[in-house]
Amino acid sequence: MSARFCGTGSCVPDYVMDNDGVAELVETSDSWIRERTGIARRHIAVKETTVSMANEAAKRALDNAGVLPEELDLILMSTISSDVIIPCGACEVQKAIGADKAVCFDLNGACTGFVLAYNTALAYIESGIYQTVLIVGSESLSRLTNWKDRGTCILFGDGAGAAVIKKDERASYIPAAHSDGTRGEALLCHSKREENGLPLQKNDENGGKHLNSEDYLMQMDGQGVFRFAIKQVPEVIQEVLKKNGVKPEEIDWYILHQANRRILEAVAKRMGEPVEKFPMNMEEYGNTSSASIPILLDEMNRDGRLKRGQKIVLAGFGAGLTWGATIIEW
Ligand code: UT7
Repeated sequence: MSARFCGTGSCVPDYVMDNDGVAELVETSDSWIRERTGIARRHIAVKETTVSMANEAAKRALDNAGVLPEELDLILMSTISSDVIIPCGACEVQKAIGADKAVCFDLNGACTGFVLAYNTALAYIESGIYQTVLIVGSESLSRLTNWKDRGTCILFGDGAGAAVIKKDERASYIPAAHSDGTRGEALLCHSKREENGLPLQKNDENGGKHLNSEDYLMQMDGQGVFRFAIKQVPEVIQEVLKKNGVKPEEIDWYILHQANRRILEAVAKRMGEPVEKFPMNMEEYGNTSSASIPILLDEMNRDGRLKRGQKIVLAGFGAGLTWGATIIEW
């Protein structure tokens, strides 16, 4: 037994901050950011929140799947930037869409979160406990970002993506995932009750409350995370392919967490696979953590690039450290 993606949805904030906008906050430039990361713009939540974007993405995914909210058995939300600590984002989504029967909880897997949420959904489906699951990745990283640190603030953006997954009779693929807590300091975010320097909060019609309800600051060893990603991601993809007896050339798309164009190009090169099989949209959205994979999946689903029967690798990597890859058949 397996699980099939039967619908996707996404939602990004209206407000767009381009690289010149970031250069007004820290000493950087459009050309430096584009060259080192492939990012040109990011969407920043001003009137939206992590939950409001999750709600919208969830509604669009249900509509795309032709599934009613009351058919959902489980809602899993991956987020590190929830509007509030409790109730969890998944319960907020349940309330917004009216999925009365669903069990709901959040999962903190950072940039690997959507892959881990899918693996969790798959395990529930394969065990026969649940049949129809909504998985959501939603983030407002602009709330956590230190807008005075050019090493991190150039990277992140806000957005949400969702997918409806249903029980399917085909054989499933076994995922591969790893964690190494001893390397957690490479990317951490801790509470720090002081201004984070993002001027948007002053113009926010909600009085800035959701942007800065708690002040958290992100710290990152950029080069360390880069080296980790270009080593572990090709390895975990090779591992998942080997585990399932699938050859790299059988894979139609490698849909990776959209962290940095150079990371994805390095992964493609190490695997000896054409970079064209690694779709990218970080130019428009930056790194949206657990939302990046479902936003890209939704774009590709809606523009017709994804076709039934295609084999796709989903791979995430990030804070924890965590990394993982899974194979799905569209
Ligand atoms: O979801 C996972 C999240 N994390 C990541 O994906 C992060 C992975 N790492 C990266 O993407 C890259 O390490 C960064 C984009 C963060 C940095 O790029 P880099 O090529 O590793 O730059 P660097 O830190 O080695 O810095 C190179 C130079 C330094 O100047 P000097 O010492 O050579 O004079 C930095 O001070 O670039 C300088 N620099 C900048 N210059 C302009 C660092 N950040 C910036 C900046 N604008 N934003």
